[in-house]
Amino acid sequence: MALLLILTLCLTLPLLLLFFLQNRRNIKNSSFPPGPIGIPIIGNLHQLNNSALYLQLWQLSKKYGPLFSLQLGLRSAIVVSSPKLAKEVMKDHDLECCGRPKLLTLQKFSYNGLDMAFSPYNSYWREMRKISVLHVLSSRRVSSFSSIRHYEVKQMMKRISMHASASEVINLSEVLMSLSVTLVCRIVFGRSYEDEGTEKSRFHELLNESQAMWGTFFFSDYIPFLGWLDKIRGLHTRLERAFKDLDKFYQEVIDEHNDPNRKTPAENEDIIDVLLQLQKQRSFSVDLTNDHIKAVFMNMLVAATDTTAATLVWAMTALLKDPRVMKKVQEEIRTLRGKADFLDEDEVQNFPYLKAVIKETLRLHPPAPLLVQRETNEACIIAGYEIPAKTIVYVNAWAIHRDPEAWKDPDEFIPERFLDSTIDFGGQDFEFIPFGAGRRICPGIAMANASLDLTLANLLNSFDWELPPGVKKEDIDTEKLPGITQHKKNHLYLCDRETLRNFEVGVCLAVQYIDIEVYHFPCAQYLAVKPNKKKRDTKKANSENAEGRVP
Ligand code: HEM
Repeated sequence: MALLLILTLCLTLPLLLLFFLQNRRNIKNSSFPPGPIGIPIIGNLHQLNNSALYLQLWQLSKKYGPLFSLQLGLRSAIVVSSPKLAKEVMKDHDLECCGRPKLLTLQKFSYNGLDMAFSPYNSYWREMRKISVLHVLSSRRVSSFSSIRHYEVKQMMKRISMHASASEVINLSEVLMSLSVTLVCRIVFGRSYEDEGTEKSRFHELLNESQAMWGTFFFSDYIPFLGWLDKIRGLHTRLERAFKDLDKFYQEVIDEHNDPNRKTPAENEDIIDVLLQLQKQRSFSVDLTNDHIKAVFMNMLVAATDTTAATLVWAMTALLKDPRVMKKVQEEIRTLRGKADFLDEDEVQNFPYLKAVIKETLRLHPPAPLLVQRETNEACIIAGYEIPAKTIVYVNAWAIHRDPEAWKDPDEFIPERFLDSTIDFGGQDFEFIPFGAGRRICPGIAMANASLDLTLANLLNSFDWELPPGVKKEDIDTEKLPGITQHKKNHLYLCDRETLRNFEVGVCLAVQYIDIEVYHFPCAQYLAVKPNKKKRDTKKANSENAEGRVP
């Protein structure tokens, strides 16, 4: 990459001077927020670390203040890192700041902005948003999917119980990702991919490849006249292929749903059924074509799967790191649950501490720490600075959620802070914005909450999760994977107390996908975390035991 940049700079030397002069003008423009000085053409691109951008931007905000600027190639960007400025951007100037930048991958995958998430702000977006909020993601629609959630969470519990009684270690990250994918697939297009097979692996390949494309840097987005470099790197071909594969898949699903012989009871209507009915009704200002449906389909897959799974994994990680909170939340659930073995969606509404745990998880580990990039639709004044139209806007929710002026002990996991507080994630409290705020606020909050509450309540009700002997809570890391959604990098391996009962050992085990030691118990060997040792052994052991089976 660095070599490519240097080569490019040499090839475009004559243009450098021109842009340098232009850049100098920008730097001297005191009515634009301050920021790190970049180099001509590239701006600050070479200084940014995509794998933990929100952390880097947080560090920069300490130096340049809660509103600072970046030069991303030829594009200007501002970064907002305080609740006060988040309010200014997403409430006072929401209308001017609620656009989305046109980036190549987003454009391609969204059928040129026919979706909701990446469409620019215009009357088309307003209509699509209205259709989605009223017909696809309304509370009534979310409730109509409760039987699917109940069934799938029960299936997950059965799988965990089977692992526990077979004394197997469980890769909870994988279990929760699989649950999330299954829920989304069933709710959105009525398939479950329960069995391993070609269709399942094809679907996962499609998801993985599209995620890889989301995370790929395209010169065309920031330095358009260097777009030919993307072609040389084969990115256009790869993007086109990924798009075609996805398109084919969406078309198959639509054809299947349009098949007159398809038997679907009315109560099992999925989101594609709903969209196809709306298409037939033609009662909107937008005539829904298959491309519109495919674009919204893509939004649901991308926005719902990763975010829900990541939140659940972070919640379990935080609870394992804090036995006090784990005990308290389990006591709440087990005291109030009555005799129920399985808690349904109505019952989980009665657990205020569980809800506080989920909020605190979203505060400390927002799945979208930089929300979704916005763009100014027109020039506006923010914090006294003139922000031109077409400026990219990052709102650093991660920094805001840890602002010491807004939060006492901001780095600590203290769900109690939400118990006697009205602070919520509905977009009115700008110190807590895991779902964003303003016109672009996540429309899937009700859907996300339904899955989060139900899954976490049942995981905590039915199983005892503890740390293994010799493992300290500090050993569980919180490293993150690069990407739009913040996933825990090292998988969370756990077992339930049941497993150890089988071996007459009264402790439970949590194993991280990092450095390990092998513990010898009466009947089996367990893997447990120990930092800085035998890293290679871990990877080997894990690859040999893909199912997390204790050797
Ligand atoms: C824990 C789960 C989730 C989190 C943390 C989350 C977070 C977010 C965030 C931060 C945004 C950007 C808001 C902004 O730009 O201000 C967003 C947008 C969006 N989310 Fe979610 N989301 C979650 C689950 C879901 C689910 C389950 C769905 C749908 C089934 C969904 C659908 C969308 C859509 C369509 C948008 C784009 C809205 C627009 O641009 O108008 N999300 N989400």
